[in-house]
Amino acid sequence: MSIKEQLRDTIDALVQGGKGILAADESSPTIAKRFAAINTESTEENRRRYRSLVLETPDLGKFVNGVILFEETLTQVGSDGVPLPQVAMRQGIVPGIKVDKGKVPLANAPGDEITRGLDGLEERLDAYIALGARFAKWRCVYHIDHHNPGRLAVAQNANVLASYAAICQSKGVVPIVEPEVLIDGDHPIERCAEVSEQVLHEVFHALHQHRVILEAMLLKPSMITPGKAHPGQATPEQVAEWTLKVFQRVVPAAVPGINFLSGGQTPVEATENLNAINCMVKRPWNLSFSYGRALQEPALKAWMGQADRVAAAQSALYHRAKMNGLATLGAYTPDMESDAMV
Ligand code: 13P
Repeated sequence: MSIKEQLRDTIDALVQGGKGILAADESSPTIAKRFAAINTESTEENRRRYRSLVLETPDLGKFVNGVILFEETLTQVGSDGVPLPQVAMRQGIVPGIKVDKGKVPLANAPGDEITRGLDGLEERLDAYIALGARFAKWRCVYHIDHHNPGRLAVAQNANVLASYAAICQSKGVVPIVEPEVLIDGDHPIERCAEVSEQVLHEVFHALHQHRVILEAMLLKPSMITPGKAHPGQATPEQVAEWTLKVFQRVVPAAVPGINFLSGGQTPVEATENLNAINCMVKRPWNLSFSYGRALQEPALKAWMGQADRVAAAQSALYHRAKMNGLATLGAYTPDMESDAMV
């Protein structure tokens, strides 16, 4: 298969109504934080047990078509000794890989950060492809404050995202481009819209300069919401209106899919907002999810690190995946929450 055919194949697998992506790529410090909340130590074996539980969830592939893995998971095996990327494939779920190396402060730009990991990316991709990865993810973050994000951070992060995307495509790997405008702060929804528009405009300008094939990438943005500490929170309809207004201005129609991150929304909020977005008038992109916390939080709480709670954790994950799958079709209603575990 040519590189272009590989990219098209992967996009076709990742862009399907009723399904979305599970982000299970927490880095070692992040998974340690999630495990600490359920009194579980973050050992390699516990991480393997947890990620096996996730990928072995019966019928997860009905609502999940891709999973983003952390490097360590690519080489771990499930409960039956099968490598975890193959466990995902067995369910019809395409394995992907987080390839950035995390963020550091951006020099001479107080309050702003830049994401590292371009050095050696080509070689790392070769190794990931050999282990089954067909798509990749790179996350850049933008803090909202009076003076943030500054112009330098907006320009530099866009450039890094576009460089990464171009390298991935040259290897036949679909890039997920993730510019996350953080939900932290007390700003109103208008400020989130203003910053997101600038950020996305710059990202697509850089993607164009780096000749990234828009048809062979996915965008993973945050929704347009007020800051978490803002006194007035928005309804799902307001989030949907603002999100589509901004995206219609700056995301080219050639991009096949937008898979939102949950970014600190509660699991139910993330589902309600995605559903409201999909109830709006028709737009050119598939609008779905690529949730981490909003899919996994209830499963982690149900699991608590205990072997006898694996089935309960899998039911919780299956339920959230199903609710979000319905939300991609605008077919979710809150009363469906009560038939959990079905
Ligand atoms: P959240 O949905 O928890 O924001 O995670 C998505 C993700 O992959 C962050 O990079």
